Amino acid sequence: MSHKDKIRHGHAVGGTVLMTIGFSLSLLTLPGSAAGDDTEGSKESGSATALVTQAVEEDMHEFMEYYFQPTYRRLKSTMNSAPADNAGWKAIKADALTLAEGGNLLLDRPSDEDAKAWKQLSIEVRKAGQEMYQAAKKKDFEASKASYGAMLKQCNACHDKFAGGEHQLAP
Ligand code: HEC
Repeated sequence: MSHKDKIRHGHAVGGTVLMTIGFSLSLLTLPGSAAGDDTEGSKESGSATALVTQAVEEDMHEFMEYYFQPTYRRLKSTMNSAPADNAGWKAIKADALTLAEGGNLLLDRPSDEDAKAWKQLSIEVRKAGQEMYQAAKKKDFEASKASYGAMLKQCNACHDKFAGGEHQLAP
C-alpha cells in the first residue's frame, strides 16, 4: 500500500520540524480543510519559493516511522507511571504536543482512497493529543492516561482503515 500522495498545497513544516512547528501551524489554512473540501482539486500551489509550509517527507511510511513512532515509543514508557518530577511531566507534554500537532500534519497528506475519512481520523488524533497535552500541563496523570489511550484508539482506527490493520499500538 502506498500513500505517497503528492502534497497539493505544499504544506507541512520546514527543516527544523520541532522548533518551527508552532510557527508553521499558524500559517496553515485550517478552516474548511477538515470537511473533505476541494483539496483534491488543482489549487494553485504557487511557485517553489511561495511562503507556505511544505512537506519535508512525503512518503507516509517514512513519516510514520520517523515522526510518530519514536514519539509513541517514548510515551509508551513514560506513561507507565506518574512522573516523579517536573522533568517527567515535561517529557510527557513534549511528546503529547508533538503527536497532537502531528494530527495537523496528517491533514495535509490525505489518502487518495478516502480523503475525508483520513482527515477525520487525523483530527481525532489531534483532539485527543490536545487533551492529553492539556491534562499533562495540569499534572493530572489519570486524565493524561485516559486521553493517551483515546488517542491511540484513533491511531489504530486509521491503521485499520489505511494500513490493512497493521500497526495496532498498545498504550
Ligand atoms: C490518518 C491516518 C493515520 C493516523 C491518524 C495515524 N497513522 Fe500511523 N500509519 C498510517 C499509515 C497509512 C501507516 C502505514 C504506512 C506504510 O507503511 O505505508 C502508518 C504506520 C504507522 C507506524 C508503523 C511505522 C513503521 O515503521 O512500520 C507507526 C509506529 C505509526 N503509524 C504510529 C502512529 C501513531 C502513534 C499515531 C497516532 C498518534 C498514528 N500512527 C496515527 C496512517 C495513520
